[in-house]
Amino acid sequence: MKGVILHGGAGTRLRPLTFSGPKQLIPVANKPVSQYVLEDLISSGIKDIAIILGETFPDLVREYYGDGSRFKCKITYIYQGKPLGIAHAVGLTKEFVGDDKFVVYLGDNLLQYGIKDYVKYFDENDLDAMILLKEVDDPRMFGVAEFDEEGNLIRLVEKPQEPPSKYAVIGVYFFKPIVFEVIKDLKPSWRGEYEITDTIQLLLDRGYKVEYKIIKGWWLDTGKASDILYANSLILDERIKRVIKGRVENSKIIGRVFIDEGSEVINSTILGPSIIGKNAKIINSYIGAYASIGDHSVIKNSVLEYTIVLDHAIIDSVDRLEESLIGRYAKIYRGESNRKVIRMRIGDYSEIEI
Ligand code: DAU
Repeated sequence: MKGVILHGGAGTRLRPLTFSGPKQLIPVANKPVSQYVLEDLISSGIKDIAIILGETFPDLVREYYGDGSRFKCKITYIYQGKPLGIAHAVGLTKEFVGDDKFVVYLGDNLLQYGIKDYVKYFDENDLDAMILLKEVDDPRMFGVAEFDEEGNLIRLVEKPQEPPSKYAVIGVYFFKPIVFEVIKDLKPSWRGEYEITDTIQLLLDRGYKVEYKIIKGWWLDTGKASDILYANSLILDERIKRVIKGRVENSKIIGRVFIDEGSEVINSTILGPSIIGKNAKIINSYIGAYASIGDHSVIKNSVLEYTIVLDHAIIDSVDRLEESLIGRYAKIYRGESNRKVIRMRIGDYSEIEI
């Protein structure tokens, strides 16, 4: 089987971070979201993988993943450009896929238990397509499945006002190459996109064998800042082990905290689960729980919790920062003035709550 990762799209809901890179490269527990996707494919036995690139900094994606050898897989890049829809992106992979079965994985989706079992099932069974579903409280922002009385899948609707069920279609789709015959007959939807839900609907309408599985564990579509922060807490909860490679002086490191090489923690407390990247400095501060601090960042005289700080940021004398997502090279510090004054030089679409 082959794999396809969607790395395009506009990422408007994650501005300003998407002014300097695609949303799928935003790190969660100091690792890009799409790297979890790539690693899930690889550990499911899929080593031949195409990455679909969009208009938002495609070169950064090529630079980060290279030819795949660093991850022990082979990566082919396919340029989509404008986000004309998930089905449009899939349509571009016809030559790459050839006669193989394949799995399409949205580069911003995270699954607690990964897709290994489903890859095996699809590989061993004679199906034309398979989708994965998850019961959610509010399915209105997703593709939603409708079933008949026997529980057979009969319809898929994209972002319905009145959802026919609570089962959202998650961003992992399995296909045989027959899907390309259907994609070429698609028309753009009301939002002007070639929809993956319409693709699967057409497969159903034409009598192809489409199955679904309901996944266990959590699933996240990291489309907004609050989703990224939540994903960060879940990944820290599950995957961080206590490892201290950096230098710790006169500090308390409590629980599962990962401190990477070259970092220094001085006169501080770090509460797990949290991660500190390479060559960071934490001085006179209280960090965590649920903090991810990027490489080369400096945190001084500050308190922060449930927060992501990207590489090279500086936070000085800030008490306290919660539920925050701080971009690369950002600086937050207390000024000299005694007056209660706030001076800001912030980028377009930034958000500050005071
Ligand atoms: O996350 C699951 C949902 O993903 C499904 O329930 C929906 O049925 C499906 O349409 C999709 O909805 P979203 O509105 O969340 O899709 P979004 O536009 O965010 O795109 C999902 C990913 O695919 C994202 O990583 C960007 C990438 N993408 C998207 C489009 C439209 C592309 O690479 N190219 C595209 O043309």
